[in-house]
Amino acid sequence: MAQINPSILSADFARLAEEAEAVRGADWLHVDVMDNHFVPNLTLGVPIVESLARATSTPLDCHLMIEQPDRWAPQYVEAGAGSVTFHVEAAAAPVRLAREIRAKGARASMALKPATPIEPYEDLLPELDMLLIMTVEPGFGGQSFLDIMLPKIRRTRQLIDKHGLDLWLQVDGGVAPATIEACAEAGADVFVAGSAVYGAADPAEAVRALRAQAETATAAAGWGCRH
Ligand code: DX5
Ligand code: ZN
Repeated sequence: MAQINPSILSADFARLAEEAEAVRGADWLHVDVMDNHFVPNLTLGVPIVESLARATSTPLDCHLMIEQPDRWAPQYVEAGAGSVTFHVEAAAAPVRLAREIRAKGARASMALKPATPIEPYEDLLPELDMLLIMTVEPGFGGQSFLDIMLPKIRRTRQLIDKHGLDLWLQVDGGVAPATIEACAEAGADVFVAGSAVYGAADPAEAVRALRAQAETATAAAGWGCRH
């Protein structure tokens, strides 16, 4: 079952509760936390996540593009996030951090920038509930999808199947009607979309249309048949 997570990075930050409501029916709300150090952009932090968690019944998928996630990630669980993603490039102790996120009651997820390979992390996969493969360089919405990431998505899906893991595979960056089918065919099952959802005339309808596209492509792909 394909999940669509609209990214509020492309929403109106002055009207976050309404923007969450505008994508009612989305599986999760993707919240991009940027610290101006790990990426050259600054967005929001714990207090806004806390308020947003109270304002919407859609669970929050917090994507931390920050330095020192070992120190800060647990606070996002306490703030009400249902899933917390840290970048492996920034984490000092990813196994310990994933265990701490899970112990605090959220889904633990790890993200890879485009130049970070999956292979060194094969043995860590059982510690995770989701793996995020970035399909743009993190930092900004509205960038073009990097189709050179498709082989990494495919190889990750093979590793998940090889180990029989219940691990979600998320893609983030440039996911839109023109690119979502290739991602699904390669093995992704959770799709973040910012500009493709909030730039649409009807965001809720954009979520439904993206999900339908992803599900059709998954059903047609070999890996989808086994799930
Ligand atoms: C980029 C963020 C994304 C961003 C995606 O660094 O992690 O979540 O909002 O935006 P689009 O879908 O417009 O590429
Ligand atoms: Zn993101």
